[in-house]
Amino acid sequence: MSAAPIVSLTSVKRSFEEGGRRRDVLAGIDLEIGAKQMIALVGPSGCGKTTLLSIVGALDAGFDGSAHLLGQDLAALDDDARSRLRATELGFVFQAFCLLDHLTVRQNVEVPLWLLDDGPDADTAAKRASEMLERVGLGGREGQSVMQLSGGERQRVAIARAMINRPKLLLADEPTGNLDTETGARIFGLFDAMRAEEGCAVLVATHDAAMAERADRVLRFEQGRVVSQ
Ligand SMILES: Nc1ncnc2c1ncn2[C@@H]1O[C@H](COP(=O)(O)OP(=O)(O)OP(=O)(O)O)[C@@H](O)[C@H]1O
Ligand SMILES: [Mg+2]
Repeated sequence: MSAAPIVSLTSVKRSFEEGGRRRDVLAGIDLEIGAKQMIALVGPSGCGKTTLLSIVGALDAGFDGSAHLLGQDLAALDDDARSRLRATELGFVFQAFCLLDHLTVRQNVEVPLWLLDDGPDADTAAKRASEMLERVGLGGREGQSVMQLSGGERQRVAIARAMINRPKLLLADEPTGNLDTETGARIFGLFDAMRAEEGCAVLVATHDAAMAERADRVLRFEQGRVVSQ
């Protein structure tokens, strides 16, 4: 087993140009995440949580500083290598879910398997999708259109999709934002199980105090810096 941490960030900075002016959103973030760890990012709206998840998730390469994911230097990877890394090693629950509306519940959950070069056959993919849907409390809803689902149901489809490729790192942006307390607790339980069973690490942005409480470490962001952990 590799001794390299799952995530290692040193002095990560991200700015955006707005009307010719530069705005520093992340002003120097250091972070290390080991296997099975869960780290929560908390802080006010607009403080940079999604921005950091996008960098760690190899979606945004426009940062300064050093970011390593599973021992690979993210700044040194080209687009193809970043896509491969995302497809094989990462699961992402987007803040806006990003489901494919023309597909069924099961097809949405299967999408990450379709992106793999050596993905499972159709029957195995369908079985794995059903297992994941069962675990998020949506067993039996496979054939439904995702357009017919409630917000919390859509969120759980997004969670099932993010976990189906058994990622080494799960990046989850407000994964319990639309869920009632009981369903949220079921999702915490699922994250814990993935950590124990697969050694999956979790980086979660959340406004949910109950979720943050379950984390090994909580990073509080303010004005682009970690103000407490
Ligand atoms: N591509 C972009 N171009 C310009 N500004 C951006 C871009 N992405 C993010 N920002 C800005 O960076 C800041 C941080 O955004 P981010 O989405 O990371 O916040 P957040 O902490 O996730 O907030 P929330 O809790 O509301 O989801 C915001 O002010 C946003 O406008
Ligand atoms: Mg956000």
